[in-house]
Amino acid sequence: MSADGSKRKRQGAKGERTNAAPQPARVRTVKEIAAIAKVSVATVSRALQRPELVSEATRQRIHEVVKRLGYTPNALARNLRTARTRLIVALLPDITNPFFSEVIRGIEQVAHENGYSVLLGETQSSLVREQAYADMVAARQADGIITMSHRVPAIPIDGRLPVVNACEYVKDSKISSVYIDNVAAAGFAVDYLVTLGHRDIAFIAGPSSSPICVDREQGYRLALQRAKISANPTLTAIGDFSIEAGERAIELFLAQGQSFSAVFCSNDEMAIGAMRALISHGLRVPEDVSVVGFDDIRFARYTSPPLTTIAQPKNALGREAMTMMIELLNDPAVPPRKRVLSADLVVRGSTAPRAAGR
Ligand code: RIB
Repeated sequence: MSADGSKRKRQGAKGERTNAAPQPARVRTVKEIAAIAKVSVATVSRALQRPELVSEATRQRIHEVVKRLGYTPNALARNLRTARTRLIVALLPDITNPFFSEVIRGIEQVAHENGYSVLLGETQSSLVREQAYADMVAARQADGIITMSHRVPAIPIDGRLPVVNACEYVKDSKISSVYIDNVAAAGFAVDYLVTLGHRDIAFIAGPSSSPICVDREQGYRLALQRAKISANPTLTAIGDFSIEAGERAIELFLAQGQSFSAVFCSNDEMAIGAMRALISHGLRVPEDVSVVGFDDIRFARYTSPPLTTIAQPKNALGREAMTMMIELLNDPAVPPRKRVLSADLVVRGSTAPRAAGR
């Protein structure tokens, strides 16, 4: 039993300081040329490295500025191709979700240990914002991207895009990824509820566009099968990983008159929202309804009651992702690899045996 009263139930599935980096002279140079020539940095980079992609007039204008500033186009182009900014972009969908802050701390630790800086890009799942960061890498303003989303930005036509996926994965992608076995971890959560005697177990899923959410739903269904419980589709609601989505799901179940004695949520924020909605309807947690989350964010042990959840190895996910990125930058030919880390079930006060008659 640890200090906060939580117990790590069993070995589960087999599976920070952003400082704007001082920009090296080369990046300043490209920016200077772009400002004078009144084009984008990406256009200057293209004109020097892939002149065929830039109009003759624009190319001429850029070369005149380059010469006027006393640079030689070929040396600048060579420098652009080889030098590193030692700046990595960490893309995340939702900066308000504390899950990501512990992952980013792991990225930052390994980055700092190896002389890199980290630029945070919060995309709110916007394709446009993801692509803008990819263009930064193509324009050699950053060396690579660690994305915590289930989508990888398109490789700009005129550049490489060193990318590593953390916490999520893109099906059939050819990029290195580090995540946990979400099917098994979700299974551990639901198996545990079954051992407490629960059979009407509701499920609040994450966005179905994310492969890890599909995996968590599969883990939920396989656990019901193992317990010979037939899945009731009206006891599944889809959320967006937010606290409000957890509240809305419970409101929906209750409005439909659903009967359930436990609910498994695809992340802790939705579990916190679910507990809030249950309590606002006069239902006690866990006496009337047991609640299990997923992530083990630092607030999970401080909720009332403290949340039973799946502990993702957040720091290790970040450290491994940055390690993969450095390997990739040191050897672009390194084959992509998948790393699946283990996750534990952490039992706290939000779960209890099913009450008789529930
Ligand atoms: O809470 C945010 C969710 O998205 C986490 O479960 C993590 O897996 C991230 O991908």
